[in-house]
Amino acid sequence: PGIAATSASSPRFLSAELARRVRAEFGTPVYVYDAALLSAQARTALAFPAAYGLTVRFAMKACPNRAVLQLLRGHGVWIDASSGYEVRRAILAGFKPEQISLSSQEMPDDIGALLQMGVEVNACSLAQLEKVGCAAPGARVGVRFNPGVGSGGTGKTNVGGPSSSFGIWHEQMPQVKALLAKHRLVATRVHTHIGSGSDPAVWQQVASLTLALARELPAVETVNLGGGYKVGRMPGEASTDLATVGAPVRAAFEAFAAETGRRLRLEIEPGTFLVANAGALLATVQDVTSTKGSGAGGHDFVKLDAGMTEVLRPSLYGAQHPISILHAAPAAPAGRVGGYIVSGHCCESGDLFTCAPGEPEELLERALHAPQIGDLCVVDGAGAYCAGMATKNYNSFPEAAEVLVGLDGTPHLVRARQSLEQVLANELPLPPAAVQGQ
Ligand code: LLP
Repeated sequence: PGIAATSASSPRFLSAELARRVRAEFGTPVYVYDAALLSAQARTALAFPAAYGLTVRFAMKACPNRAVLQLLRGHGVWIDASSGYEVRRAILAGFKPEQISLSSQEMPDDIGALLQMGVEVNACSLAQLEKVGCAAPGARVGVRFNPGVGSGGTGKTNVGGPSSSFGIWHEQMPQVKALLAKHRLVATRVHTHIGSGSDPAVWQQVASLTLALARELPAVETVNLGGGYKVGRMPGEASTDLATVGAPVRAAFEAFAAETGRRLRLEIEPGTFLVANAGALLATVQDVTSTKGSGAGGHDFVKLDAGMTEVLRPSLYGAQHPISILHAAPAAPAGRVGGYIVSGHCCESGDLFTCAPGEPEELLERALHAPQIGDLCVVDGAGAYCAGMATKNYNSFPEAAEVLVGLDGTPHLVRARQSLEQVLANELPLPPAAVQGQ
C-alpha cells in the first residue's frame, strides 16, 4: 500500500501570484529559476573552507541554461563540462576557455584544439590519457581517479569504489606514470568525484585518499574533490553544511603542506548544490482520476501536462521532489487533503512524480489539497538535472520553456518552448524507391 510521505507544503520560492503570472505569460510546463537563490548558493559555495586557494566549478550538466551559467559566472564560479559540446556551450555563455575544465566519459576528438584554446582537461581513464598524450604531447593535464570509495544517494548516483568505472582505479598509478612519461605530459591536477548525494562524513576520507594520490605526482598543484554535496529537497531532509565538511578537508591540506612543503589549491565541483532548490517545474493538472471502487488497492491520481520528459529523476532514481497544488481560483476550493499518485503525461505506467525509492512497483501517495483540473502544480527542487536531463521529445512533446525570475522580481523567458517544427527539424525525407520498392 502507498505511504503518505509529505504534507501539502507550500512551494518554496514560487508564490501563487508569481506562478499564475508565469503560466499566463509563458504557459506550462515551464521550469522557473530564481536568481536570488542561485546567487545565495553561489556565495555559500565560494565560502568553502580552503587553505591555499579555492576554485568553485559548476558541474554545468546539472543546468546548462545560458542565463543560469551567466549568473553563476558573475559570481566568479567556473565550469566543469561533461562533453566537448558543453565546453562550447560554456564559451558561448561567456566563460574563458581557461575557466573551463572537461571531465567527460568521451574524450572529444578535437581535444588537442581544446587544450590549445586553454581548456583544462581531466583524463578519466588510461585510454583518455593516451588520447590526450597523442593529441598534445607535453601538455598539462588533470587525472581523474576512482579513489576506491564511493558514496551516493542511490546506487545509480554512486560513482566511486570497485563497482564504478568512473575514473582511473587508484592502484593504477604505475600505468598513469608510464603514460605521463611516454607523452611528456605534466599532471598538474588530481581529480576525484565519488557520487551525488554523498554522505557528509565521507569527505575527510576522500580528501586524504586524493591527497595520497597527489603525493605520487610531484607536479600536481590543484586537487579537485568533485561535487556530490547533498541538498535537502523534501521537508526534513538536510543539505550538506559546506563549512562543516570543509573544515577537516582544509586540515588535511594543511597537514599535507606541513609534511611535503606543497600548498595545493582546492577545487570543488558542485552541480546539485548550486541549482537544485533554486528551480521548480510549473505544470498544470490535466486530469484527476480514481481507481477506488469496492475492492482494495485503489488510488486517486493527479495527471499533469509534464512528466518523465521534464523531470526524469523520480522514474530513474526514485528521487523525491516536493509537490504542491496551487488552485486556479484564488479562493481555495472546499475539499480535503488526500493521498494522490502524481503521474506524468507520457504513455508509460512508470511515468510518475511519486515513485518509491526502493521497490519500483510500490506506488507512493502524496498529500495534496483537493487538486482539480486546471490547477497549477509545483514540483520543487527541479533546478538540477531536470531541464538538462529532459528526455527529449518522447511522445513528441516539445521541450519545455525555461524562465528565470530576476533580482527585479520579474519572470524572464530564457528558453522558449520548442515548436513541432523544431522537434521535426532534423528529420529527412526518404526517396520514394526506399519505401515503394521497385
Ligand atoms: N563532477 C563530476 C565529474 C560529475 O560527474 C558530477 C555529476 C558532478 C561533479 C556534480 O555532482 P552533483 O554535485 O550534482 O551531485 N543526474 C543525477 C546525478 C548524476 C550526476 C552525474 N555527475 C541526479 O539527478 O542527481
